[in-house]
Amino acid sequence: MLVLGIESSCDETAVALIEEPPGGGQPQLLSSIISTQIPLHRMYGGVIPELASRNHSANLPAVLQEALDKAGRSIHQVDVFASTAGPGLVAALLVGNTAAKALALTAGKPFVAVNHLEGHMLSPFITHSQGLIPHLSMVVSGGHSLLVDVQGPGKYTLLGRSVDDAAGEAFDKVAKMLDLPYPGGPEIDKLAEQGNPERFSLPRPMMHEAHLNFSFSGLKTAVLYLLPKLSPGGNPHDLPKQTLCDLCAGVRAAIVDVLIHKALRACKQTGHRILAVSGGVSCNQGLRRQLEKSCKQARIQLILPPNSLTTDNAAMIAFAGMLRAKAGDFSSLDTPVDPNLRLSGMQTRA
Ligand code: KG4
Ligand code: ZN
Repeated sequence: MLVLGIESSCDETAVALIEEPPGGGQPQLLSSIISTQIPLHRMYGGVIPELASRNHSANLPAVLQEALDKAGRSIHQVDVFASTAGPGLVAALLVGNTAAKALALTAGKPFVAVNHLEGHMLSPFITHSQGLIPHLSMVVSGGHSLLVDVQGPGKYTLLGRSVDDAAGEAFDKVAKMLDLPYPGGPEIDKLAEQGNPERFSLPRPMMHEAHLNFSFSGLKTAVLYLLPKLSPGGNPHDLPKQTLCDLCAGVRAAIVDVLIHKALRACKQTGHRILAVSGGVSCNQGLRRQLEKSCKQARIQLILPPNSLTTDNAAMIAFAGMLRAKAGDFSSLDTPVDPNLRLSGMQTRA
């Protein structure tokens, strides 16, 4: 089965092809092309939906052709067309979604509408030899922080989520206060590498509470109050370089501590011995290092996607589409995009 996936929910235009060998077995990622619009949106300090949509339209044909060329396949060989249907920016989602539907219609092949979060959640298994196995999933992206008990494809139980800012959003908002370029997560991560995480003691909201929800907005507020104490008028540009690095290291450590603490508690509560972490924040160097260490100590098997599959990409959409297609779970061509799309098969814990 050859699946072509398209992702356009935010500021990456991406197309990927994934193929399962005849008779089953480990799917092969044949190509994963990502055209990022980050430099374009950076001057506005965030994603401008209209600009994202227009650029998806302009970029998609070339990205599609490059993905086919790199995979060495023609559009006529594709068995299933998949695209992100939400959550995301409506105008951006419409571009990839309409393109995938048009291709499916023209080729007379089935279409699968994929939930972006399901794509992230399953992404650690695209390149994993064991395939999708039951595990505890932590999705940490710009818009979501989730802990999910994954029993199998389409069998998910939501255990916890952020009640305010998502982890990526917390990184981005703190970075904005520090006047660092968009997106702030990678900038804070870079500066944190040269900082002392213990110089500033920052809050770890809800870390010790028994439930599995997250809250990161208090961290942002703590930085807001700390800034004027560190530089006159709170101007981040007046901060000595080392202070900036120490502050970034403190913020990163606080977010990482909370994420890992809750993820390991979720493993304990569910009995899962496998933890998979995905989403843009999962490429954070501090998080990856600490996860390796903590999981080893707790004797939990850790599965991380390669860095190239952490932030938005179409490989995860093609892979999730493939699993849905194998289950016969196709979508009709009038399936709408939905900025707040809920994950089908997701139960909440009783
Ligand atoms: O998964 P993603 O590409 O898009 C969403 O679905 O939201 O995640 C983007 C988020 C942004 O908030 C970005 O700042 C964050 O992932 N991010 C990072 C790093 N790289 C990307 N956060 C912390 N450290 C990083 N290295
Ligand atoms: Zn994403």
